[in-house]
Amino acid sequence: MKHFINLKDIKISDLRKILRDSKRRKYKRKNLNTLVVDKDAPLKGKILIQMFEKPSLRTRLSFYLAIRQLGGGTITLRSNELHLGKGGESLADTARILSTYGDGFMLRTDSDKKINDFVKYIKIPLINGLSPSSHPTQVLSDVFTVEEIKKKPISKLNICWIGDSNNVLNSLIAASVKFSFKLSIGCPNKYRPKKTILDWAKNNKKKINIFDDPKKAVKNADVIFSDKVISLNDKVNKIKKTKDFEKFYINDTLLKLAPKSIFLHCLPRGKEVSDQVFLGKKSHVWKQALNRVHVQKSILLYCFNKLR
Ligand code: CP
Ligand code: NVA
Repeated sequence: MKHFINLKDIKISDLRKILRDSKRRKYKRKNLNTLVVDKDAPLKGKILIQMFEKPSLRTRLSFYLAIRQLGGGTITLRSNELHLGKGGESLADTARILSTYGDGFMLRTDSDKKINDFVKYIKIPLINGLSPSSHPTQVLSDVFTVEEIKKKPISKLNICWIGDSNNVLNSLIAASVKFSFKLSIGCPNKYRPKKTILDWAKNNKKKINIFDDPKKAVKNADVIFSDKVISLNDKVNKIKKTKDFEKFYINDTLLKLAPKSIFLHCLPRGKEVSDQVFLGKKSHVWKQALNRVHVQKSILLYCFNKLR
């Protein structure tokens, strides 16, 4: 049994193994209907419990489809419907009960501490479905999407992020170390990634270029990533923060400075990108969302020690 909490804590050989399995499985079920189970049904009879402390559309549905296609099932809990959420039961007892009924636990939480606390008591694999500090299932899936579209290992590509230094970017930084790709970040100086994550990258011999000019950041980019300026539960002055990012608006003019680039965005989107870009030819956001099903299947298999 293995947890899937932060990309930085997972061996690159395992991350690569997950991506190889995703590619194989995605290819094999090309002509199958959505709920048809993969031939080997490797998670037959297993149940994944999903718990959301924040809203979710994609993560919820993609994990539902992922476990179903592997032969298992899922149940979704909202934390405010639990004793734990209402303050009537300890986290430790909740973790023990989840381990009694479930085979895997996916948690979307507004507290990194909660993930660490669950890990202490849980006896089944725990998957981080987004926390304040990371969104590892999203970013591993995004690596898959980039390699699928560009038909090259990501280590040979220039990756650019335009936007806030949030959980998704933290995971992208972790991925840049693990997968050895070049990463440029365009964000206002005030919103640079935290020193701890930059120091971690530096200690892992990674040089990340950070520009407070989006035009410089996108130069030579093969992929431009973005995300909402205001994340879920972001406790900031939203008007001020949105204004601070005005210069970082992603439109056709900016994309023209990176002619070979594609555009990716984890969704949901805000006002950081124009409709023309988001719905345009360079954008692959729908494929990106769908690929989460394929990659999360292999993440589940990794957690259940079933990866070939
Ligand atoms: N990208 C993503 O995680 O979307 P949801 O918040 O809808 O799950
Ligand atoms: N950074 C965003 C990602 C949503 C999928 C958030 O945390 O809200």
